[in-house]
Amino acid sequence: MTRSSLRPFLGVALVVLPAVALSQGAPRDVWGGVYTAAQAQRGAALYASTCASCHGDALGGNDQAPPLAGGGFRANWTGQTAAALFTRIKTTMPLDNPNSLGAAKVADIEALILSRNGFPAGQAELPADPGALDAIAITQDKPGA
Ligand code: HEC
Repeated sequence: MTRSSLRPFLGVALVVLPAVALSQGAPRDVWGGVYTAAQAQRGAALYASTCASCHGDALGGNDQAPPLAGGGFRANWTGQTAAALFTRIKTTMPLDNPNSLGAAKVADIEALILSRNGFPAGQAELPADPGALDAIAITQDKPGA
């Protein structure tokens, strides 16, 4: 085979293989390592500039805005999906300018929130896609623990 006849096959392999790997190895809940440490770090910078004024530097909330970390937050969100939290942030926050953050930024901020709630980082980034996030459950207790 010549180089040019190989190229279409390579293209297909590059697109299909990651999709297969994701669907087979996808964690089912937030205990499975659903974001990366680097992503949470990006989220921290975004959080500081767009959320901290109301929710506090350490995600502890203030008089008006609820905490985004801690037992109360985890209890609020347990049984829901990472997609629900994503959509809540994207469509209602920041309260004074909702829908102003792109999907990638919202995913980065959600990664930060997960990390500050004690859910572990992993090898793959939290997807900026509600369809994929719908497969990730938020459970406050570690399964089997
Ligand atoms: C101007 C103040 C303000 C800013 C800025 C702000 N929020 Fe909020 N947020 C609130 C208030 C007040 C509530 C509760 C009332 C409501 O939901 O509208 C809230 C609620 C929330 C909730 C729901 C919490 C729960 O447990 O139900 C989430 C999640 C959230 N905010 C995330 C964010 C994120 C992420 C940012 C930054 C992108 C942000 N907020 C920026 C004021 C703010």
